[in-house]
Amino acid sequence: MLHFKTIIEPFRIKSVESVKFTHREERERALAQAGYNVFLLHGEDVLIDLLTDSGTGAMSAAQWGAIMQGDETYAGSRSFYRFRDVVQDLTGFRHVIPTHQGRAAERILFHSVLKPGDVVPNNNHFDTTRANVEVEEAEARDLVIPEGRVPAQVHPFKGNVDLAALEATLARDGERVPLVMATVTNNTGGGQPVSLENLRGVRRLCDRFKKPFFLDACRFAENAWFVKTREPGQSGRTPKEIAREMFSLADGCTMSAKKDGLSNIGGFLGVNDDAWAERCRNLLILTEGFPTYGGLAGYDLEAVARGLEEVVEEPYLRYRIRSIEYLHERLVAAGVPVIQPAGGHAVYIDARSLLPHVAPLQYPGIALVNALYVEAGIRGVEIGSVMFGRQPDGSEKPPAMDLVRLAIPRRVYTQSHIDYVAEAVIGVAAMKQRLRGYRIAKAPAVLRHFTAVFEPLAA
Ligand code: F0G
Repeated sequence: MLHFKTIIEPFRIKSVESVKFTHREERERALAQAGYNVFLLHGEDVLIDLLTDSGTGAMSAAQWGAIMQGDETYAGSRSFYRFRDVVQDLTGFRHVIPTHQGRAAERILFHSVLKPGDVVPNNNHFDTTRANVEVEEAEARDLVIPEGRVPAQVHPFKGNVDLAALEATLARDGERVPLVMATVTNNTGGGQPVSLENLRGVRRLCDRFKKPFFLDACRFAENAWFVKTREPGQSGRTPKEIAREMFSLADGCTMSAKKDGLSNIGGFLGVNDDAWAERCRNLLILTEGFPTYGGLAGYDLEAVARGLEEVVEEPYLRYRIRSIEYLHERLVAAGVPVIQPAGGHAVYIDARSLLPHVAPLQYPGIALVNALYVEAGIRGVEIGSVMFGRQPDGSEKPPAMDLVRLAIPRRVYTQSHIDYVAEAVIGVAAMKQRLRGYRIAKAPAVLRHFTAVFEPLAA
């Protein structure tokens, strides 16, 4: 019997969409028009779009088929009950509150339970999570393990929560902590997983200090795959069994179904506590919609329900994680500094160490993102001093890392697309001396990375 080493895409392509090829001068012009902020480009002017893995995946034929079965009943839609049953089968949470995407679940939860001066511990809050905590005048406190802040350091569960630091926070500031969170996988820190053992440790501390524990579960299936392949004693379990245990350790979750829901839109809030669920539902009705649709169409609920079933399939997860690792290996072999090890949804380039001649507050991540676009038509995203450098008091402080994330949309690009990306990154890294920093010409106070306008600094 033959034993194959090649891990192939576990699907064949039924429908295709052309990508547009542009010339370098066209891209230079487009970027200048976009204020040197790739968020402001027209998507059509991007050849390979690695801005985000959120909502950008390809849905399966089964999902498109389910969409045609969507029930658009305002209250009590059949599609809601199908969605609720799938979510409950996976997570076990008593209350399932649909939302149009992850940040809506965050806003509803935080607005319902936080008050000014509160503290929310997490391994790392991602951008909208942090902003939704801070808008309530609470503190988003990042407590990832020290290894999680050092790009080159290898650790199997670099997204783990620093349990000693969490214990200290709960002992010192416990009265101000309404809930504890953990983000799986840890997006800000490089798409790095959290071990089951660590989640159990968080649970024990939450029990001791009587605090509810919520998962930011956007990439729960990718996290479950890392647990299966890296955590002692877990290799014999299915990703779904592992995911169920992850959820069973929590009292609720916020979820963006645009990631591991394999859908273009959607999310939910899972809650066990009846009183919290009631508060959240009341706010949901005010801003999102009735509790059986929460800002989604019936057909969206169908797509998410089916997506949550497909995302825990082993052939899918094996291919998914391997395809990220493949790009990572190529960059490592060429000496490009990246976060070690490969993450679950993206490769993160360490822009600060690639471009030591660009100071953190001259935004090395933006310099690299923009060069990748101009040279190759590839769009990545800065996760660094622009995204996280502005403090609530208005001052600037560079975060632990200046990264460029190349997020891989699910089931969208083939291996030759990824080969092109590797060639482009290696080529741009070789011309690093020519890359210059930027200054911010104009930016809003909150979530400035989305709309800021930059000016290139002179050589
Ligand atoms: N939590 C994490 C860890 C995320 O990565 C995101 C979104 C959200 C919450 C919010 O979910 O977009 O559905 O409102 N991250 C995307 C990204 C946008 O590019 O990583 P959302």
